[in-house]
Amino acid sequence: MTRTVLLTGGAGYIGSHTFVALVEAGYSVVIVDDFSNSKPSVLTRLGRLTGLNKVEAYEGSVLDDAFMERVFNAHEFDAVVHFAAKKAVGESVSYPVDYVETNVGGLTTLLRLMDAHDVRRLVFSSSATVYGDPDIIPIPESAPRSYTSPYAFTKLMSEQILEQAAAADPAWAFGILRYFNPVGAHPSGTIGEDPSDIPNNLMPYIAKVAAGELSHLNVFGDDYDTPDGTGVRDYVHVCDLAMGHVKSLDALMASNLGHTVNLGTGIGSSVFDMLQAYSRACGKTLPHVVTDRRDGDVPVLCAEVDRARELLGFEAKRTLDEMCASSWHWIQTGAKE
Ligand code: UD1
Repeated sequence: MTRTVLLTGGAGYIGSHTFVALVEAGYSVVIVDDFSNSKPSVLTRLGRLTGLNKVEAYEGSVLDDAFMERVFNAHEFDAVVHFAAKKAVGESVSYPVDYVETNVGGLTTLLRLMDAHDVRRLVFSSSATVYGDPDIIPIPESAPRSYTSPYAFTKLMSEQILEQAAAADPAWAFGILRYFNPVGAHPSGTIGEDPSDIPNNLMPYIAKVAAGELSHLNVFGDDYDTPDGTGVRDYVHVCDLAMGHVKSLDALMASNLGHTVNLGTGIGSSVFDMLQAYSRACGKTLPHVVTDRRDGDVPVLCAEVDRARELLGFEAKRTLDEMCASSWHWIQTGAKE
Protein backbone atom coordinates (compact mmCIF):
# COMPACT_ATOMS: atom_id res chain seq x y z
CA MET A 1 0.00 0.00 0.00
CA THR A 2 1.40 3.40 -0.97
CA ARG A 3 1.79 5.79 1.96
CA THR A 4 1.13 9.48 1.41
CA VAL A 5 3.40 12.01 3.04
CA LEU A 6 3.05 15.78 3.40
CA LEU A 7 6.44 17.43 2.87
CA THR A 8 6.52 21.03 4.07
CA GLY A 9 9.39 23.07 2.64
CA GLY A 10 9.77 20.41 -0.04
CA ALA A 11 11.23 22.82 -2.62
CA GLY A 12 14.08 23.86 -0.31
CA TYR A 13 17.62 22.54 -0.16
CA ILE A 14 17.18 19.56 2.17
CA GLY A 15 13.46 19.22 1.39
CA SER A 16 14.04 18.71 -2.34
CA HIS A 17 16.68 16.02 -1.79
CA THR A 18 14.35 14.31 0.69
CA PHE A 19 11.52 14.43 -1.86
CA VAL A 20 13.66 12.41 -4.27
CA ALA A 21 14.66 9.89 -1.58
CA LEU A 22 11.04 9.43 -0.42
CA VAL A 23 9.74 8.92 -3.98
CA GLU A 24 12.54 6.43 -4.68
CA ALA A 25 11.53 4.59 -1.48
CA GLY A 26 7.96 4.26 -2.77
CA TYR A 27 6.19 7.03 -0.86
CA SER A 28 3.64 9.30 -2.51
CA VAL A 29 4.67 12.85 -1.61
CA VAL A 30 2.74 16.13 -1.52
CA ILE A 31 4.79 19.33 -1.20
CA VAL A 32 3.74 22.53 0.55
CA ASP A 33 6.12 25.46 0.07
CA ASP A 34 5.75 29.24 0.08
CA PHE A 35 8.92 29.64 -2.05
CA SER A 36 10.25 32.26 0.35
CA ASN A 37 13.71 30.66 0.11
CA SER A 38 13.35 28.45 -2.97
CA LYS A 39 12.16 28.65 -6.57
CA PRO A 40 9.04 27.08 -8.10
CA SER A 41 11.28 25.78 -10.94
CA VAL A 42 12.62 23.21 -8.44
CA LEU A 43 9.33 21.35 -8.93
CA THR A 44 10.06 20.83 -12.64
CA ARG A 45 13.53 19.59 -11.76
CA LEU A 46 12.06 17.17 -9.21
CA GLY A 47 9.72 15.81 -11.88
CA ARG A 48 12.67 15.31 -14.21
CA LEU A 49 14.74 13.56 -11.53
CA THR A 50 12.04 11.19 -10.32
CA GLY A 51 10.27 10.56 -13.64
CA LEU A 52 6.94 11.61 -12.12
CA ASN A 53 4.54 13.20 -14.62
CA LYS A 54 3.29 15.55 -11.96
CA VAL A 55 4.86 16.72 -8.72
CA GLU A 56 1.96 17.35 -6.37
CA ALA A 57 2.59 20.74 -4.77
CA TYR A 58 0.73 23.60 -3.12
CA GLU A 59 2.05 27.14 -2.80
CA GLY A 60 1.33 28.63 0.61
CA SER A 61 2.53 29.05 4.16
CA VAL A 62 2.31 26.52 6.97
CA LEU A 63 1.21 29.46 9.13
CA ASP A 64 -1.96 29.87 7.06
CA ASP A 65 -4.59 27.73 8.82
CA ALA A 66 -7.22 27.95 6.08
CA PHE A 67 -4.72 27.05 3.35
CA MET A 68 -3.34 24.13 5.34
CA GLU A 69 -6.86 22.92 6.13
CA ARG A 70 -7.55 22.74 2.37
CA VAL A 71 -4.37 20.71 1.85
CA PHE A 72 -5.28 18.28 4.65
CA ASN A 73 -8.84 17.94 3.25
CA ALA A 74 -7.53 17.14 -0.23
CA HIS A 75 -5.36 14.17 0.85
CA GLU A 76 -5.28 11.27 3.29
CA PHE A 77 -1.86 11.76 4.82
CA ASP A 78 -0.13 8.96 6.69
CA ALA A 79 2.64 11.21 7.96
CA VAL A 80 4.28 14.63 7.73
CA VAL A 81 7.94 15.56 7.17
CA HIS A 82 8.31 19.16 8.30
CA PHE A 83 11.12 21.32 6.87
CA ALA A 84 9.40 24.65 6.33
CA ALA A 85 11.26 27.05 8.64
CA LYS A 86 13.77 29.86 8.76
CA LYS A 87 17.40 28.86 9.29
CA ALA A 88 19.78 31.83 9.20
CA VAL A 89 21.41 32.29 12.58
CA GLY A 90 22.47 35.92 12.00
CA GLU A 91 19.04 36.94 10.74
CA SER A 92 17.42 35.31 13.79
CA VAL A 93 19.42 37.61 16.06
CA SER A 94 17.93 40.65 14.25
CA TYR A 95 14.38 39.24 13.96
CA PRO A 96 13.84 36.88 16.91
CA VAL A 97 10.05 37.25 16.96
CA ASP A 98 9.77 36.33 13.27
CA TYR A 99 11.80 33.21 14.00
CA VAL A 100 9.50 32.15 16.83
CA GLU A 101 6.43 32.91 14.75
CA THR A 102 7.57 30.92 11.71
CA ASN A 103 9.46 28.07 13.32
CA VAL A 104 7.38 27.48 16.44
CA GLY A 105 4.05 28.85 15.10
CA GLY A 106 4.43 26.73 11.94
CA LEU A 107 4.94 23.62 14.05
CA THR A 108 1.95 24.24 16.36
CA THR A 109 -0.35 25.01 13.39
CA LEU A 110 0.75 21.75 11.82
CA LEU A 111 0.24 19.75 15.02
CA ARG A 112 -3.30 21.11 15.44
CA LEU A 113 -4.20 20.14 11.88
CA MET A 114 -2.55 16.75 12.19
CA ASP A 115 -4.51 16.12 15.39
CA ALA A 116 -7.80 17.16 13.75
CA HIS A 117 -7.13 14.86 10.77
CA ASP A 118 -5.76 12.01 12.87
CA VAL A 119 -2.29 12.10 11.32
CA ARG A 120 0.03 11.05 14.11
CA ARG A 121 3.50 10.65 12.65
CA LEU A 122 5.88 13.51 12.10
CA VAL A 123 9.55 13.74 11.12
CA PHE A 124 10.96 17.02 12.40
CA SER A 125 14.05 18.96 11.22
CA SER A 126 16.06 19.81 14.28
CA SER A 127 19.70 20.80 14.47
CA ALA A 128 22.93 20.13 16.34
CA THR A 129 22.57 23.77 17.33
CA VAL A 130 20.45 22.51 20.28
CA TYR A 131 23.70 21.28 21.88
CA GLY A 132 25.09 24.82 22.25
CA ASP A 133 28.81 24.55 23.05
CA PRO A 134 29.00 20.87 24.02
CA ASP A 135 31.36 19.40 26.63
CA ILE A 136 31.51 15.89 25.17
CA ILE A 137 32.73 15.18 21.62
CA PRO A 138 31.39 13.19 19.77
CA ILE A 139 28.05 14.48 21.09
CA PRO A 140 25.57 11.87 22.32
CA GLU A 141 21.84 12.62 22.00
CA SER A 142 21.67 12.61 25.82
CA ALA A 143 23.96 15.68 26.05
CA PRO A 144 22.43 18.73 27.77
CA ARG A 145 20.68 21.16 25.47
CA SER A 146 20.98 24.92 25.39
CA TYR A 147 20.83 27.74 22.87
CA THR A 148 23.12 30.52 21.74
CA SER A 149 20.83 32.21 19.18
CA PRO A 150 17.10 32.82 18.63
CA TYR A 151 17.28 30.26 15.80
CA ALA A 152 18.64 27.64 18.20
CA PHE A 153 15.97 28.66 20.73
CA THR A 154 13.20 27.88 18.19
CA LYS A 155 14.65 24.43 17.49
CA LEU A 156 15.01 23.65 21.18
CA MET A 157 11.51 24.91 21.93
CA SER A 158 10.10 22.87 19.03
CA GLU A 159 11.76 19.72 20.37
CA GLN A 160 10.29 20.41 23.81
CA ILE A 161 6.80 20.99 22.37
CA LEU A 162 7.00 17.64 20.60
CA GLU A 163 8.22 15.91 23.77
CA GLN A 164 5.35 17.35 25.80
CA ALA A 165 2.76 16.46 23.15
CA ALA A 166 4.07 12.88 23.01
CA ALA A 167 4.04 12.62 26.80
CA ALA A 168 0.43 13.85 26.91
CA ASP A 169 -0.81 11.56 24.15
CA PRO A 170 1.12 8.37 23.25
CA ALA A 171 -0.66 8.18 19.89
CA TRP A 172 1.85 10.73 18.60
CA ALA A 173 5.07 9.39 17.06
CA PHE A 174 7.80 11.92 16.36
CA GLY A 175 11.14 11.45 14.65
CA ILE A 176 13.34 14.32 15.80
CA LEU A 177 16.42 14.55 13.57
CA ARG A 178 19.35 16.67 14.70
CA TYR A 179 21.31 17.61 11.59
CA PHE A 180 24.98 18.37 11.78
CA ASN A 181 26.32 20.29 8.74
CA PRO A 182 24.47 19.30 5.56
CA VAL A 183 26.45 20.01 2.37
CA GLY A 184 26.80 18.83 -1.24
CA ALA A 185 24.19 18.26 -3.90
CA HIS A 186 22.41 15.53 -5.83
CA PRO A 187 25.01 13.77 -8.04
CA SER A 188 22.89 14.48 -11.15
CA GLY A 189 23.56 18.22 -10.74
CA THR A 190 19.80 18.85 -10.99
CA ILE A 191 19.16 20.14 -7.44
CA GLY A 192 21.40 21.71 -4.81
CA GLU A 193 21.84 24.66 -2.49
CA ASP A 194 21.20 27.95 -4.22
CA PRO A 195 21.70 30.93 -1.90
CA SER A 196 20.84 34.22 -3.60
CA ASP A 197 22.86 36.40 -1.18
CA ILE A 198 26.46 36.10 -0.04
CA PRO A 199 26.43 32.77 1.81
CA ASN A 200 27.05 32.56 5.57
CA ASN A 201 27.91 28.89 5.58
CA LEU A 202 31.27 27.44 4.66
CA MET A 203 30.65 25.21 1.65
CA PRO A 204 28.37 27.55 -0.33
CA TYR A 205 30.91 30.32 0.32
CA ILE A 206 33.81 28.20 -0.95
CA ALA A 207 31.68 27.22 -3.96
CA LYS A 208 31.37 30.90 -4.91
CA VAL A 209 35.14 31.36 -4.54
CA ALA A 210 35.64 28.33 -6.83
CA ALA A 211 33.18 29.83 -9.34
CA GLY A 212 35.11 33.12 -9.30
CA GLU A 213 32.21 35.10 -7.80
CA LEU A 214 34.06 35.81 -4.55
CA SER A 215 37.78 36.50 -4.33
CA HIS A 216 38.75 34.33 -1.35
CA LEU A 217 37.53 32.49 1.71
CA ASN A 218 37.71 34.25 5.06
CA VAL A 219 38.78 31.61 7.57
CA PHE A 220 37.13 32.59 10.83
CA GLY A 221 40.01 31.99 13.24
CA ASP A 222 43.00 29.62 13.20
CA ASP A 223 43.67 29.69 16.95
CA TYR A 224 41.05 27.22 18.16
CA ASP A 225 42.13 24.23 20.22
CA THR A 226 41.81 21.90 17.21
CA PRO A 227 44.48 20.02 15.18
CA ASP A 228 45.02 22.85 12.64
CA GLY A 229 43.49 25.68 14.71
CA THR A 230 40.36 26.10 12.56
CA GLY A 231 36.77 25.12 13.46
CA VAL A 232 35.87 21.44 13.13
CA ARG A 233 32.43 20.30 11.94
CA ASP A 234 30.67 17.08 11.03
CA TYR A 235 29.76 17.64 7.37
CA VAL A 236 27.15 15.24 6.04
CA HIS A 237 26.18 14.78 2.38
CA VAL A 238 22.63 16.04 1.79
CA CYS A 239 21.72 12.77 0.01
CA ASP A 240 22.77 10.78 3.09
CA LEU A 241 20.75 13.19 5.21
CA ALA A 242 17.74 12.71 2.90
CA MET A 243 18.04 8.95 3.41
CA GLY A 244 18.00 9.57 7.16
CA HIS A 245 14.48 10.99 6.76
CA VAL A 246 13.33 7.92 4.84
CA LYS A 247 14.74 5.68 7.60
CA SER A 248 13.08 7.81 10.28
CA LEU A 249 9.73 7.67 8.51
CA ASP A 250 10.05 3.92 7.89
CA ALA A 251 10.70 3.44 11.62
CA LEU A 252 7.65 5.54 12.61
CA MET A 253 5.48 3.58 10.18
CA ALA A 254 6.74 0.24 11.48
CA SER A 255 6.53 0.80 15.23
CA ASN A 256 4.76 4.09 16.00
CA LEU A 257 7.55 4.73 18.52
CA GLY A 258 9.26 8.11 18.48
CA HIS A 259 13.02 8.74 18.37
CA THR A 260 15.52 11.58 18.63
CA VAL A 261 18.73 10.99 16.69
CA ASN A 262 21.81 12.77 15.40
CA LEU A 263 22.33 12.73 11.65
CA GLY A 264 26.03 13.11 10.92
CA THR A 265 29.02 11.04 9.86
CA GLY A 266 30.83 11.06 13.19
CA ILE A 267 33.89 12.45 11.37
CA GLY A 268 35.14 15.96 12.09
CA SER A 269 36.68 18.08 9.30
CA SER A 270 38.37 21.45 9.74
CA VAL A 271 37.92 24.56 7.59
CA PHE A 272 41.30 23.81 5.97
CA ASP A 273 40.26 20.17 5.32
CA MET A 274 37.19 21.48 3.52
CA LEU A 275 39.14 24.08 1.56
CA GLN A 276 41.63 21.44 0.38
CA ALA A 277 38.89 18.96 -0.53
CA TYR A 278 37.06 21.62 -2.55
CA SER A 279 40.32 22.63 -4.25
CA ARG A 280 40.76 18.98 -5.30
CA ALA A 281 37.17 18.88 -6.59
CA CYS A 282 37.47 22.01 -8.75
CA GLY A 283 41.10 21.46 -9.74
CA LYS A 284 42.54 24.74 -8.50
CA THR A 285 43.98 26.06 -5.25
CA LEU A 286 41.39 28.31 -3.66
CA PRO A 287 42.70 31.45 -1.92
CA HIS A 288 41.97 32.21 1.73
CA VAL A 289 42.68 34.84 4.35
CA VAL A 290 42.62 34.10 8.09
CA THR A 291 40.43 36.62 9.93
CA ASP A 292 39.02 36.95 13.45
CA ARG A 293 36.77 34.32 14.96
CA ARG A 294 33.06 34.69 14.15
CA ASP A 295 30.86 35.52 17.15
CA GLY A 296 28.94 32.54 18.43
CA ASP A 297 31.10 29.87 16.72
CA VAL A 298 32.14 26.86 18.78
CA PRO A 299 35.45 25.02 18.19
CA VAL A 300 34.15 21.52 17.48
CA LEU A 301 30.80 19.90 16.65
CA CYS A 302 30.81 16.21 15.83
CA ALA A 303 28.03 13.63 16.15
CA GLU A 304 27.93 10.38 18.02
CA VAL A 305 26.23 8.22 15.40
CA ASP A 306 25.53 4.94 17.24
CA ARG A 307 21.91 5.66 18.06
CA ALA A 308 20.96 6.47 14.44
CA ARG A 309 22.60 3.22 13.35
CA GLU A 310 20.95 1.14 16.07
CA LEU A 311 17.44 2.63 15.91
CA LEU A 312 17.16 3.48 12.22
CA GLY A 313 19.89 1.48 10.48
CA PHE A 314 21.20 4.85 9.28
CA GLU A 315 24.81 5.36 8.26
CA ALA A 316 26.15 8.37 6.35
CA LYS A 317 28.59 6.92 3.83
CA ARG A 318 29.63 9.67 1.43
CA THR A 319 33.09 11.21 1.94
CA LEU A 320 34.17 14.86 2.10
CA ASP A 321 35.55 14.50 -1.45
CA GLU A 322 32.16 13.28 -2.70
CA MET A 323 30.45 16.17 -0.92
CA CYS A 324 32.73 18.70 -2.63
CA ALA A 325 32.60 17.00 -6.05
CA SER A 326 28.78 16.96 -6.04
CA SER A 327 28.63 20.62 -4.98
CA TRP A 328 31.05 21.63 -7.74
CA HIS A 329 29.12 19.60 -10.33
CA TRP A 330 25.90 21.37 -9.27
CA ILE A 331 27.52 24.81 -9.39
CA GLN A 332 28.78 24.16 -12.91
CA THR A 333 25.55 22.67 -14.26
CA GLY A 334 22.15 22.86 -12.52
CA ALA A 335 22.71 26.08 -10.60
CA LYS A 336 23.36 27.93 -13.88
CA GLU A 337 20.16 26.79 -15.63
C1 UD1 B 1 25.77 27.18 11.13
C2 UD1 B 1 24.86 27.58 12.26
C3 UD1 B 1 24.00 26.40 12.64
C4 UD1 B 1 23.19 25.96 11.43
C5 UD1 B 1 24.14 25.63 10.29
C6 UD1 B 1 23.37 25.37 9.04
C7 UD1 B 1 26.10 29.34 13.47
C8 UD1 B 1 26.80 29.71 14.74
N1 UD1 B 1 25.65 28.07 13.38
O1 UD1 B 1 26.61 26.15 11.61
O2 UD1 B 1 23.13 26.73 13.69
O3 UD1 B 1 22.41 24.84 11.75
O4 UD1 B 1 25.01 26.74 10.02
O5 UD1 B 1 24.16 24.69 8.11
O6 UD1 B 1 25.95 30.14 12.57
N2 UD1 B 1 33.61 29.33 8.36
C9 UD1 B 1 34.67 30.07 7.88
N3 UD1 B 1 34.42 30.98 6.88
C10 UD1 B 1 33.18 31.19 6.35
C11 UD1 B 1 32.11 30.41 6.85
C12 UD1 B 1 32.35 29.50 7.86
O7 UD1 B 1 35.80 29.94 8.33
O8 UD1 B 1 33.02 32.04 5.46
C13 UD1 B 1 33.87 28.33 9.41
C14 UD1 B 1 33.11 28.55 10.69
O9 UD1 B 1 33.82 29.36 11.58
C15 UD1 B 1 32.93 27.10 11.20
C16 UD1 B 1 32.85 26.28 9.92
O10 UD1 B 1 33.42 27.09 8.90
O11 UD1 B 1 34.07 26.69 11.91
C17 UD1 B 1 31.43 25.92 9.54
O12 UD1 B 1 30.64 27.09 9.49
P1 UD1 B 1 29.15 27.09 8.89
O13 UD1 B 1 29.13 26.40 7.57
O14 UD1 B 1 28.63 28.49 8.94
O15 UD1 B 1 28.35 26.14 9.87
P2 UD1 B 1 28.15 26.22 11.47
O16 UD1 B 1 28.67 27.48 12.03
O17 UD1 B 1 28.69 24.96 12.05
